[in-house]
Amino acid sequence: MPIVHDIFNPAHYRKIGLPLNECEALPRWAFTSEEFYRREVEHIFLKSWNFVGRADEIPNPGDYVTMTLAGEPIILIRDRAGTPRAFANTCQHRGARMLEGKGNVRAIKCPYHAWVYGIDGALTGTPDMEQCVGFKREEYGLAKIKLEIWAGFMFVNFDPNSVSLMAYLGDLPRQFESYAYDDVVVTRRVEFDLDCNWKIYAENSTEVYHTPTVHGASLGKQLADYVPSKGNWSAIHMPGEETCAVLPSDASPFPQIAGLKGRPRHGTHFALVFPSTTLCCTHDCMWWLAVYPVSASKSLLSVGSCFPRSTVARPDFEEVVKKYYHRWDLATPEDNWVTSVQQAGLASTLRIAGRMSWNEPVVHDLAMWVKDRVIGNLAPA
Ligand code: FES
Repeated sequence: MPIVHDIFNPAHYRKIGLPLNECEALPRWAFTSEEFYRREVEHIFLKSWNFVGRADEIPNPGDYVTMTLAGEPIILIRDRAGTPRAFANTCQHRGARMLEGKGNVRAIKCPYHAWVYGIDGALTGTPDMEQCVGFKREEYGLAKIKLEIWAGFMFVNFDPNSVSLMAYLGDLPRQFESYAYDDVVVTRRVEFDLDCNWKIYAENSTEVYHTPTVHGASLGKQLADYVPSKGNWSAIHMPGEETCAVLPSDASPFPQIAGLKGRPRHGTHFALVFPSTTLCCTHDCMWWLAVYPVSASKSLLSVGSCFPRSTVARPDFEEVVKKYYHRWDLATPEDNWVTSVQQAGLASTLRIAGRMSWNEPVVHDLAMWVKDRVIGNLAPA
């Protein structure tokens, strides 16, 4: 295929919307082009609800974490009333980034010229500004970012006119209600630099087509069914009566979440909340795989492990949980490796648009979701 210059021409995307057994994958430049990536930032990451962490990671007033989401530096902080808030991590004087990492503060003080903000974002201290004509502190509070919470999962949205988080999630809260995620806590969070486009990792997180080859020595072959869904998510369900958060050779060490019923009771969900967070929901715990784009070919992966409070309170928790961490520490590098391999191969200008297996329904859904936002709605050819 010659080098394509009109990468946003709808003609290149018509076969994506065909049924799974007839469709094609997104073209290679959707994973390699900085121009395509910039459109994704504008039309996807700055418009969607993006998962940023759990509310229990900032349990006390003044607790904060910082992160960069699609290039946007943000602060997540719990205010004095106990409400998690999100702000742009940029001083309203000359724009310095103010907080790094995580911690606890009584106020936010800019490291450059010492402007001070309350943990509610209000500007409270401005040295040597008395002579500024018409300057009003109340007009220069921290820039707010919408933050809403479902079952302890915090999401932010940069679009002030967006729908609510619950409207965005559709029927996911109802389908996942019996997991009782309000009652879980984060026990570990690990981050990895990825040499791949964000979509490559999101796709990999929600298909089991690759498991016999990539995870043959660790997880082994897995089978999964497609889950009907409404809203901005898509999922597969892997039937089974045991947790899949330990290696197949380990028996289920922790008790099941009390009250599980329906599909959650009889298997594991891998649910991609668009754009880029996979919730891996099994009988006794859950873990997330959140992918934050850095550029067209680089991403940051956050892997968070969550267990019910009653499980964490067990005297043997710290010992037994090592089996779970071992499973994640084995499988995650395997996925990190293979996604970098895919990115490397996509550099070839000779690649033709690939076909998909029946075993990749969420990959298909993500391709259509991205295409609709970056290119627009198209009738299939
Ligand atoms: Fe923050 Fe000057 S940039 S006080």
